[in-house]
Amino acid sequence: MTDTLSMQIKKVNQSRISEVDFDNIAFGKVYSDHMFMADYKDGEWTNLQVLPYEHLRLSPANSAIHYGQSIFEGLKAYRSPENEILLFRPMDNWARLNRSAARMCMPEVPEEVFMSGLQELLKLDNAWVPSKIGSSLYIRPFMFATDEYIGIRPSDTYKFMIFTCPVGSYYSEPVRVRIETNYSRAYTGGTGFAKCAGNYAGALYPAKQAQKLGYHQLIWTDASSHQYIEESGTMNVMFLINDTLITAPTGDTILDGITRKSVLTLAREWGVKVEERKVSILEVVEAIKNGTLKEAFGTGTAATIAPIALLNHDGVDYTLPAIETREFSNKILKTLNDIRYGIAPDTHNWITKL
Ligand SMILES: Cc1ncc(COP(=O)(O)O)c(C=O)c1O
Repeated sequence: MTDTLSMQIKKVNQSRISEVDFDNIAFGKVYSDHMFMADYKDGEWTNLQVLPYEHLRLSPANSAIHYGQSIFEGLKAYRSPENEILLFRPMDNWARLNRSAARMCMPEVPEEVFMSGLQELLKLDNAWVPSKIGSSLYIRPFMFATDEYIGIRPSDTYKFMIFTCPVGSYYSEPVRVRIETNYSRAYTGGTGFAKCAGNYAGALYPAKQAQKLGYHQLIWTDASSHQYIEESGTMNVMFLINDTLITAPTGDTILDGITRKSVLTLAREWGVKVEERKVSILEVVEAIKNGTLKEAFGTGTAATIAPIALLNHDGVDYTLPAIETREFSNKILKTLNDIRYGIAPDTHNWITKL
């Protein structure tokens, strides 16, 4: 299917890879040699190309800058011990990109454009996929409006692009999170389920207030009552209370995380009781106080499984059980990593080999 698409390939004269210290990679600051780009105009995607990573030239009247038609995805490529490049559930990212696109009045990106762009890019930048367990190549597909137009209406033209960055871990330590009961990230009928730029911009100010107080991130609560836990800034969140794994259901206020659904699938297969339902703050605080909360963690592509060490609610810091005692999340992290890095068999069809 993909070979029906014509794609221009322009390679760098000299790779920058020798400048990279793969043992100390700062998250999201090092970019691989090439990027993929396609243009949408007159109702179709054209001008598919892989070219050296470089800055873009945009009109000051670019409508994405002013009115925010801008969406993105995040996935990772892993290097197996056999030196194969493995992508984790890329079709799920493609599908989610298009759900975001629909909500933001943007065109769909066809599967062939998404996958062939990804594959051609990774073929050229194969050497940028780190080999160390815990490191990977973060892949950032994104689409934004390109009309030069001041006035509010959906753009007629767009760019879809992909670039990649070798990365280590997102959080270098177990996270301290604050439950936010004043500001809101999403509301019923809004855009919370979409991976659109504005959701993240709106979250910055409240997150900064929490960071000033020494917390890494917020846990958002529902906008109407602020009593129910939704998700964190870049992760879905889960609690193991007694022996039940509990997480908020996805809907229009929560991002349908790919790590989230992978964890839930594995947990169900292992016979763990899983509940996707509203989780109240009171229930979690009560479970911490009476010792039934065994584990709390975030799930996300960037953060993988991020243990939550401390929860703050209403001015009180609650320290959660020690990380070494957390059998479930440690096992989930190992199992997911074994699948992602091609160490364990891919019985779920989650892996696409390059
Ligand atoms: C708001 C938000 N929630 C959850 C997630 C986790 O989703 P995934 O597991 O697909 O990376 C992300 C990251 O993409 C996110 O940005």
